[in-house]
Amino acid sequence: MSSSTRIRLIEPADAAPIAAHRARDVEAFRRWEPAQPAGFFTPEGQAERIDRLLARYRAGAVWPGVVLADDQVIGQVTIGGILPQPHLRRGTIGYWIAGVAQNQGHAGHAVGLALRVMTDELGLHRAEASTNLENLPSQRVLRRNGFSAYGVAHSSILLDGSWRDGLLWERILGD
Ligand SMILES: CC(C)(COP(=O)(O)OP(=O)(O)OC[C@H]1O[C@@H](n2cnc3c(N)ncnc32)[C@H](O)[C@@H]1OP(=O)(O)O)[C@@H](O)C(=O)NCCC(=O)NCCS
Repeated sequence: MSSSTRIRLIEPADAAPIAAHRARDVEAFRRWEPAQPAGFFTPEGQAERIDRLLARYRAGAVWPGVVLADDQVIGQVTIGGILPQPHLRRGTIGYWIAGVAQNQGHAGHAVGLALRVMTDELGLHRAEASTNLENLPSQRVLRRNGFSAYGVAHSSILLDGSWRDGLLWERILGD
């Protein structure tokens, strides 16, 4: 149930469940997530990707998390584009939840927990996100976490072979 939603930093051992979820959901995610090379859907390819994410984490550019339900990996939540400079202090949230675990409130809870990481651990002041204009579930997740839509980025992401507009979201985290 959603009450068990947790997030933590990604680990090398998360490669296998992430590859399995993304291979199973490849058709359902085609509209919403960018195309990936074949290696993305294998444990070996995911392990390399996790190594790269953790190197960028150590450099302070990203906080790469997984979402857990009852201690099983069911998705990812990533704080990217971290700008820690005192006059910026912002980051961008992205996330996905495996089809088998959707519509149980996990993304909503995971984004709430990621916002706590942004304030308490990363000391950020502003959170940003971007959704497809038609991605109503993702928009619900953001609204439920206090985000407001503030603009449209035209032709900003290549999804399923077409350049799509992105709806831009913001939430001020305070000081
Ligand atoms: C978007 C996504 C992360 C949501 O994950 P989730 O765990 O199912 O989200 P939650 O259960 O917390 O919330 C989903 C909300 O969407 C609503 N919803 C579900 N299907 C809907 C639909 N077709 N139209 C409108 N709202 C819908 C649910 O009712 C819920 O809203 P509520 O809190 O008001 O009840 C998940 O669907 C996903 O990974 N999709 C594919 C990848 C993706 O879109 N990533 C985000 C890119 S910005």
